[in-house]
Amino acid sequence: MATFTSNSVAETIAFAQNWARQLLPNEVVGLVGDLGAGKTHFVKGLLQGLGSTEDATSPTFTLVHEYRSGRLPVFHFDFYRLNQAAELAEIGFDDYLEEGGIVVIEWADRFAEALPERTRWIRLDAGGASERTITDETR
Ligand SMILES: Nc1ncnc2c1ncn2[C@@H]1O[C@H](COP(=O)(O)OP(=O)(O)OP(=O)(O)O)[C@@H](O)[C@H]1O
Ligand SMILES: [Mg+2]
Repeated sequence: MATFTSNSVAETIAFAQNWARQLLPNEVVGLVGDLGAGKTHFVKGLLQGLGSTEDATSPTFTLVHEYRSGRLPVFHFDFYRLNQAAELAEIGFDDYLEEGGIVVIEWADRFAEALPERTRWIRLDAGGASERTITDETR
């Protein structure tokens, strides 16, 4: 279990950017952490690491944002406002898992049972105003 301590937004983005370079088609990244822990900023870095020119923003009113300008497409979900797993079936969530892109999910632990075994788990914890620990908890 690898832990990185970030002391700024820029360090979080740089970490995620570097971390994302290993990602292969159909990988799933589950982000876990409280409000303001830095999940969306991790996604911003992940996109940059895949060579995307887009800026990630949380999918709030739609369940998914799709970014297609990088080496792999990225499907960005946020389970915060999801009420039940059945809503995932309605939007064809399982199809996104097999699209050949990267599925990255904020608040992934809210519906962990909807995610495949191969999911990589990243936890972010706030240590102070600008300190965040980022732990790769992939089991
Ligand atoms: N080291 C850091 N890394 C990331 N964000 C930081 C850091 N230090 C301070 N911040 C601040 O913490 C906040 C993180 O916001 P972000 O939207 O990424 O969180 P989130 O986990 O996606 O929250 P939410 O659950 O609301 O979606 C921002 O306001 C950012 O400026
Ligand atoms: Mg967010």
